[in-house]
Amino acid sequence: MSTAANRVSTFGTTIFTEINTLATQHNAINLGQGKPDFDGPADVVAAAVRALQDGQHNQYAPGPGLPALKQGIATHAAAYYNLDIDPNAGVVVTAGATEAVFASVLGLVDPGDEVIVIEPFFDSYVPNIIMANAMPVYVPLHPPEWTFDPDELRRAFTPKTRALIFNTPHNPTGRVFTREEIGLIAELCIEHDVTVISDEVYEHLVFDTARHIPLATLPGMFERTVTIGSLGKSYSVTGWKVGWVYGHPELVQGVARAHQFITFAVNHPAQAAGAFAFTLPGSYFEELQAMYMVKRDLIMNGLTAAGLKARPPEGTYFVMADFSDVFDGDDVEFAQYLVKEIGVACIPPSPFYSTRHAHIARKQARFAFCKSDDLLKQAGEKLARLRK
Ligand SMILES: Cc1ncc(COP(=O)(O)O)c(C=O)c1O
Repeated sequence: MSTAANRVSTFGTTIFTEINTLATQHNAINLGQGKPDFDGPADVVAAAVRALQDGQHNQYAPGPGLPALKQGIATHAAAYYNLDIDPNAGVVVTAGATEAVFASVLGLVDPGDEVIVIEPFFDSYVPNIIMANAMPVYVPLHPPEWTFDPDELRRAFTPKTRALIFNTPHNPTGRVFTREEIGLIAELCIEHDVTVISDEVYEHLVFDTARHIPLATLPGMFERTVTIGSLGKSYSVTGWKVGWVYGHPELVQGVARAHQFITFAVNHPAQAAGAFAFTLPGSYFEELQAMYMVKRDLIMNGLTAAGLKARPPEGTYFVMADFSDVFDGDDVEFAQYLVKEIGVACIPPSPFYSTRHAHIARKQARFAFCKSDDLLKQAGEKLARLRK
């Protein structure tokens, strides 16, 4: 009988599908998946409608991306990070950041290479590394501060290390890594001649005094870093699945070679709307941050009042909360209990760690707060029942 390939034999159903199904069954408030329950900016949506109707965007887009969008990505990188990106040779548009990571791994990592992954990781990283026949090497972040141990990080580098996948602002912990933390990563990557795949999809979701520092801006890092962004995250249009990779043309060429045989080209009208989105004034991002700070405070109030312990996230739209004072089981049991008995869905984070380190997340739950203020208040009211 024909069977599935060994390469995918260890891949289960993603935790998001499992929790979404359970949340629907129990009609729970879904703070699981990072999916805004509100629309993107009306004028960006209108630009997509125009692109659908102007007779210019309903056939294949150029494989590496629509020139106007690539220009927008390069102009943005110059304006916000003072990076000099070649809009032709230094940018590839992908089907979301998800494809951006996959094309980067396939385009920049050889079979047998080791790839360092910081835990908890975004769920596609490790399957991507496995599909490239490379080896993940894990470095955990430790609660409650969600920092890595510098010695653990140092020990992860070996002569076989080819790449490190980094994510800041970090899903699921809400950390925005400091210059000191990023500096150590840069120092080690330079010392060991390692490429960095830097997933910065939450670059504009930073709060209070936190500042997002792209790894590519550190001395000696531009030529060894590809940076990944997502229209879905920056403009609340996750359903469009438009992402990108930018960096030094030598590296981006490797990514582009993989991309042309994964998706070849990306949704054309959504790219046209993306090009428009990049022309919005900087106040758009300021308003986005202000909106998310209100939401962050609402979820923090709800979690704290319910007896969960959480460090206010410095960025992203996720918060990790320690439930050990209100529930005895592990994170998966807690997530199931919360959906069925309390009516709120969260994500158990142990699947975002290797088996060896999964115990670190045993008492943690991830909550997404990209939801309406009303829904977050209702969730808070339900969560209050945990105390009883
Ligand atoms: C850290 C991180 N990287 C990548 C992605 C995927 O982004 P996209 O929807 O653009 O594929 C996500 C989405 O949740 C994410 O949180």
